[in-house]
Amino acid sequence: MPKRSPDHPVDARKRRASLPPACPAPDVPTPLLGGLTPAQFMRKYWQKKPLLIRQAIPDIEAPLTRDELFALADSDDVESRLITHFRRRWAFEHGPFSPDELPTPRTRQWTLLVQGVDLHDDRARALLERFRFAPDARLDDLMISYASDGGGVGPHFDSYDVFLLQVHGKRRWRIGAQRDLSLQEGLPLKILANFQPEEEWVLEPGDMLYLPPHIAHDGIAEGECMTCSIGFRSPSTSELTSQFLYWLAERGTDDGNRQPTLYRDPDQPAVTHPAQLPPALVERVGAVLAKVRWSDADVSSFVGSWLSEPKANVVFDAPEKPLDEARFVTRAAKYGITLDRRTILLYDSRSYYLNGEQYLLKEARKWLPALADSRSMDGKRFVTLSHDSCMTVLLHEWYRAGWIRVGVLA
Ligand code: SIN
Ligand code: CO
Repeated sequence: MPKRSPDHPVDARKRRASLPPACPAPDVPTPLLGGLTPAQFMRKYWQKKPLLIRQAIPDIEAPLTRDELFALADSDDVESRLITHFRRRWAFEHGPFSPDELPTPRTRQWTLLVQGVDLHDDRARALLERFRFAPDARLDDLMISYASDGGGVGPHFDSYDVFLLQVHGKRRWRIGAQRDLSLQEGLPLKILANFQPEEEWVLEPGDMLYLPPHIAHDGIAEGECMTCSIGFRSPSTSELTSQFLYWLAERGTDDGNRQPTLYRDPDQPAVTHPAQLPPALVERVGAVLAKVRWSDADVSSFVGSWLSEPKANVVFDAPEKPLDEARFVTRAAKYGITLDRRTILLYDSRSYYLNGEQYLLKEARKWLPALADSRSMDGKRFVTLSHDSCMTVLLHEWYRAGWIRVGVLA
């Protein structure tokens, strides 16, 4: 982790070297954020207030065509949803959808949402890269919605930050910072009971709206349109707690003891009410739980492993005819290496977390953070570490698992 704030100009120059080309550096004003620097955006707007950005990405093209999106929604390992509002009735269905299960584009008032498109398409992944001025640990996915004229998902709020980028056609957004977030009852999706919009805009291709959590919003297509949602993950306290306790249980809390410590009650008397929970038993369990301890290092290991875990539907494509190690090294030294678009690589001051696995790898400190930040390494850089056979063995293993690929994307 950088010791100084990334706002520091020297750090900004250094960081530029390891950021992917699409991602703006913290102190450089960018059209993506309406001429603000990422540092200014994070200070003034992130988690605080909405921001409308006209022409955030001028000349944008939808990362996928309508037909490509429909084809993705037909696949078993892609999460998709169809929302219709025919005859003023909301209906909701989960995919996959074969093309003939979707209404025609001429039918009004329906929308198809395809989640995690960045996991399936490099163009979508490249678009997500532009938003890496926020930490990867917070970035969730890129969803693409297709809506026919009048289509939308109804007035609602989200519990996470989102950038809504118009990539095709027009959409009218209305938003409000209302306190009343009660929902209409008896509907298959979350629709606000009393939507009170305060602002309204029509977004055209390239325009973008940033919304912090809990801002009420409703986007209605004007003609057919496509919108990309760049969403961030915001785990609830109960999710964090349950995941951490699960991680702790999996890791084991019997620190170093070969035999697990078992519950014991040598003083248990015979009972006349066998169904009654003995208070002493509850007390003993309480005493065992009160002894469960964890360190800051445990918390880091949990956070890194958990947040780098691939989503449940992710399957890596291992190379069909993998290069042996020597040929892998020769090719990587020529063409460089790139993290697969599905790979999540995070790091802290002690460890690396790659797709849910923790590595200590002290010897990789000179190059692995840069690979994690820029998600690729050119051939020249690879040559300098190719003398360390431990590292090339490891990278070759990651390549065989489909976690990294040979070559650097343009
Ligand atoms: C959409 O793209 O239709 C919905 C996105 C959102 O409101 O979060
Ligand atoms: Co929303």
